[in-house]
Amino acid sequence: MKSLVVYDSVFGNTEKVAQAMATAIGGQAIKIDALGADALEGVALLLVGSPTRAFRPTPAISTWLKGLPAGKLAGVRAAAFDTRISVEDANSAILRVMVKLFGWAAKPIAKGLAKAGGQLAAEPEGYYVGASEGPLKEGELERAVAWAQALASA
Ligand SMILES: Cc1cc2nc3c(=O)[nH]c(=O)nc-3n(C[C@H](O)[C@H](O)[C@H](O)COP(=O)(O)O)c2cc1C
Repeated sequence: MKSLVVYDSVFGNTEKVAQAMATAIGGQAIKIDALGADALEGVALLLVGSPTRAFRPTPAISTWLKGLPAGKLAGVRAAAFDTRISVEDANSAILRVMVKLFGWAAKPIAKGLAKAGGQLAAEPEGYYVGASEGPLKEGELERAVAWAQALASA
């Protein structure tokens, strides 16, 4: 079964998560700006992740998802993840309220995957950084690996 993790990352935290997932499931992790036109060929499990930036995925991930033709992911099991800051660590009350209102990147990614015909294999998931530039909070890489492994073995 061919597995692919497509991701974007600004400070390297989402990249770490994506690479740990790919290694754990014997797949490949490819950063969005290096994704070739035929990268999805033969892929049975597709995991897509992005840092949450202003409650959304990065523009590169959003644009790619929007550009996927309808049915492109037909027959592909797919799941979305993001990295994010926990509400408790956000250092402003306004941000805390906005996060609650507008959420994180994984949900819109999952929507994009479903719109392209992907079969959502898990709820959107998020992994926490302690501050904008990281590092990931303790235990998050392990949690990400377990999530990917569960999807790969389902
Ligand atoms: C401009 C900017 C906007 C951000 N917006 C959010 C946000 O809306 N919600 C959130 O949880 N984290 C937000 N963050 C924190 C990022 O999620 C964090 O930088 C990211 O998880 C790090 O991943 P990366 O190292 O892969 O870039 C923001 C960070 C920056 C720099």
